[in-house]
Amino acid sequence: MPDAPEFHDRLLSLGLARVSEAAAIACADLIGRGDEKAADQAAVNAMRNQLNMLDIRGTVVIGEGERDEAPMLFIGEEVGAGHAAGAGPEVDIALDPLEGTTLTAKDMPNALTVIAMAPRGTLLHAPDVYMDKLAIGPGFKPGVVTLAMSPAERVSALAAARGCSVTDITVCVLERPRHEEMIAEIRSTGAAIRLITDGDVAGVMHTADTARTGIDMYMGSGGAPEGVLAAAALKCMGGQMYGKLLFRNEDERNRAKKAGITNFDRVYTRDDLVTGDVIFAATGVTDGSLVPGIRRDPGHVTAETILMRSKTGSVRRMIYRNPVR
Ligand code: FBP
Repeated sequence: MPDAPEFHDRLLSLGLARVSEAAAIACADLIGRGDEKAADQAAVNAMRNQLNMLDIRGTVVIGEGERDEAPMLFIGEEVGAGHAAGAGPEVDIALDPLEGTTLTAKDMPNALTVIAMAPRGTLLHAPDVYMDKLAIGPGFKPGVVTLAMSPAERVSALAAARGCSVTDITVCVLERPRHEEMIAEIRSTGAAIRLITDGDVAGVMHTADTARTGIDMYMGSGGAPEGVLAAAALKCMGGQMYGKLLFRNEDERNRAKKAGITNFDRVYTRDDLVTGDVIFAATGVTDGSLVPGIRRDPGHVTAETILMRSKTGSVRRMIYRNPVR
């Protein structure tokens, strides 16, 4: 049997930061320009170029889509200089070159470039379907809130665990018609809701840093691929997350089958979504509560990246200032 692929997360993490940083900088001139596609394409190109410079044998498991719908960074694409060299660790890559394309086009808060890397076979190959998500930050007993509870029960359980009133709880929710009932139920408890128009990776991450963001809990459905990225972030920052795939039709079930999923009713925990050690990098594109966005001063562009490792729980913030030529 060959040795398990080595995963030097400490060394690899700095390279990963450059990848998310490059994608964010590539979007700089497209923030607030009303062109989602151009911003996304710029981020994709830059992320792919940088990834291909890393000495890894990477496979994109969460990417821009299936091979027939995404020419670059598609699911299954091999990335990294290690493939040609026949060397380097075998890793799974989950990425979203621009999480919040509309946020970027409209210069609204919390657009990020996001990437996670983990040993081969440790990130869930989530199909492009919705996922029902629930997340809270660190410091609570496992299972203090669950997907089986109603939204109101989750609010009460979290308030009891925190020893505070339900009116002190703030829940982050994607503003969508499908969430109207849930929003009404949460509001009926007296809890506050921070509605976001997009970007639930950031939404989940907000729960892990309540002091900075004011968010205690995230709930609602969003993209399953984003669920894996959010789980990777939360595994580094600490916190609990649950996710259940939601299928609207046979085509979506087939997508899941193709991704190797057999149990369609499974509730995934954070550590089912990301089963091993993971490194995670996100760079701010537009200003957000977690990281500031790209700054352009005459002659310079500045980006801030949050870089984290689950093995150590380390969180590093890196500010990169580069002359614009
Ligand atoms: P994009 O950046 O690809 O536009 O996705 C943003 C996002 O808001 C995700 O954060 C979220 O998981 C998903 O879209 C929600 O999907 P929908 O817009 O269909 O509700």
